[in-house]
Amino acid sequence: MKGLILSGGKGTRLRPFTYTGAKQLVPLANKPVLFYAIEHLVAAGISDIGIVVGDTGDQIRAAVGDGSLLGARVTYIQQDRPLGIAHGVKIAETFLGKEPFVLFLGDNFIREGIVPLVDQFRSGGANSLIILNRVKNPCDFGIAECVDRRVVRLVEKPREPKSDLAVTGIYMFDQNVFRAVNSIKPSARGELEITETIQYLIDNQFQVAAHFLENGSCWIDTGKMEDILEANRLVLEVLAERLEGFMDESSEICGRVVLEPGSEVINSVIRGPAIIGQRTRIINSYVGPFTSINHDCLVSDSEIEHSVVLENSRILGIRYRIENSLIGRNVEVARSPMKPRAYKLVLGDFSKVGLL
Ligand code: TTP
Repeated sequence: MKGLILSGGKGTRLRPFTYTGAKQLVPLANKPVLFYAIEHLVAAGISDIGIVVGDTGDQIRAAVGDGSLLGARVTYIQQDRPLGIAHGVKIAETFLGKEPFVLFLGDNFIREGIVPLVDQFRSGGANSLIILNRVKNPCDFGIAECVDRRVVRLVEKPREPKSDLAVTGIYMFDQNVFRAVNSIKPSARGELEITETIQYLIDNQFQVAAHFLENGSCWIDTGKMEDILEANRLVLEVLAERLEGFMDESSEICGRVVLEPGSEVINSVIRGPAIIGQRTRIINSYVGPFTSINHDCLVSDSEIEHSVVLENSRILGIRYRIENSLIGRNVEVARSPMKPRAYKLVLGDFSKVGLL
């Protein structure tokens, strides 16, 4: 089997991040979400992986390279415009050839991996297998209607959902999918839709099987800010402690904490689960549960929890605790030293700030 990861797209729901960066490279516990997908494919015995890239292709290439560090052999497939998930499949036909494959949306995260899912597809004899997860708000998802383990209909964001089984961003197909993606027409939003692709297979008597994720397994589409914080929480929940940085005697660490090499904790409290990146310094500060601070950051005289901070950012002398926040690369959040006492903001389009 081969793997196909979609890492292009528009990323409108994750602005302003996606103005400057690929959303698939947003880190969960300091590791890009895309790396988890690659590692899960490799763990399922799939190392020949195509990655569909768009405008942010250079960043994805720089981060993943030829894939060898993650045990994969990566081929890049350029998508000139984000014309839909099924379009990503269509342009990968030459790479995929006649081999069955796993389609993995590069911003999707599944904590438990995909080994049993791939095993079910390999032994099941269906033309496609889709992964379904029970959700509380089916109106917000593509929803599958099933008879036993067979999918009979897919409906995108139904007004009156007939099931609570949401279609996740992990799918398996054999070569018949190309008949579907070459037959369907763009939807009203101008995209070749994956839901329509699968519905085409069902309507043309191909077998589409379902894998129901078990209760307690964790799948998240990290396309929105809140979902990134939630996915970060899920990874930190199971992260093993590792103290490879420096901590002085007046600091305190409790719970599961990772201090990456070169990090320093000075006169501070870190309450896990949390991860502090390489060369990051935490000085006179508090870092609370479910926080990931990436490499080369500085947190000084501040408190932060349940947040994700990307590389090379600085949080300096903030009087109230920062929480539920996603802070990008090279950001500075600092107490304003000058009079008049006022908020001084330099914010890009679509930024969101919650002030007290
Ligand atoms: P989506 O999150 O469905 O779409 P999007 O990235 O355009 O984001 P938004 O809805 O916020 O504007 O995409 C799922 C994954 O598939 C994501 O990793 C991007 C990727 N993708 C492509 O590679 N090509 C495409 O044409 C589309 C639509 C998505």
